[in-house]
Amino acid sequence: MVSSSQVKVSFVKNWYRKYPDSATLKLMDKLTQIARQLTRKGDLHLNQHGVKFFHEKARNLLEQARLHEIYDYQKLIESSLSKNFLHEQNFKYLEFSDLPITIARGEHCFIDIYFWRRRPTVIHNHHFAGAFQCLSGNNVDLEFSFTEKKKIGRFHALGELKLLQERQLKQGEVVEIAELGEFIHQNHHQAELTVNLCFRTHEFKKHNLSNYLFTGLRYEKEPKLIARVNRLLRFIDLEAFDFKKVDISLDEAIHLIIQTHYSGSCHPRLLQLRRYLDKMIKEESDLSLSKLLKGHDQKFDRIESSYE
Ligand SMILES: [Fe+2]
Repeated sequence: MVSSSQVKVSFVKNWYRKYPDSATLKLMDKLTQIARQLTRKGDLHLNQHGVKFFHEKARNLLEQARLHEIYDYQKLIESSLSKNFLHEQNFKYLEFSDLPITIARGEHCFIDIYFWRRRPTVIHNHHFAGAFQCLSGNNVDLEFSFTEKKKIGRFHALGELKLLQERQLKQGEVVEIAELGEFIHQNHHQAELTVNLCFRTHEFKKHNLSNYLFTGLRYEKEPKLIARVNRLLRFIDLEAFDFKKVDISLDEAIHLIIQTHYSGSCHPRLLQLRRYLDKMIKEESDLSLSKLLKGHDQKFDRIESSYE
């Protein structure tokens, strides 16, 4: 049970977090100050209307705030390393992008900044709603639709991935991230350093993020499945054992093959396991994963080389 003194302390802490005194505000850069105001407006909208039109609200608020005109790299560093920068961080260091920083946090929404070196993301949908804005650099954004045709296991599906549009997002431009995974895209960060800001809700716990291959495979990032595959991969790395006696599902086999496809590892036990799982996938689902991955890589190489 929570005591009244704990309630009081928590109330004061929350109040302080929401309404910092003027001395604290002075230590924050302008971008962080405005980001705090935006999360308050975002909370108000989410409390009144729920998440349904949050992507539109986030887009409007970001367009009005013109944060790209305020963004200052030096000031952001000073602010994010000041003693008053106490926000809970959404992503761990290097968990997403080349540096993720949560600069403002409300009750139901928050604002992150992502620093990207020149490189593309995977094709993905989102398990949150909001909008992102280019603060600096250059994003070539490919937006897709996916029509599912055949379910494979619980967390995979074959279908048609269709390119809807290609946009060049320059400084200040905003893109909505619609709720429930509707927005599927791949972002090619095409400057030495691209800085994006994302105004977003928390993750919808019941929805997993999905990634896609150009060749039409959707693969869901289910946390328990990922944890089991990672455990199996660690065992493979540590010592020899009979993996044929281990309970590996079709979903886990597909996930492991995709995850290790780009690792470049030539570990003999891993190669042996991959061959075994590849055969198992073919037998259980008639899916030629190596063919899908090869087709995806070829398409991906064509796109990347067209930007050079
Ligand atoms: Fe995204």
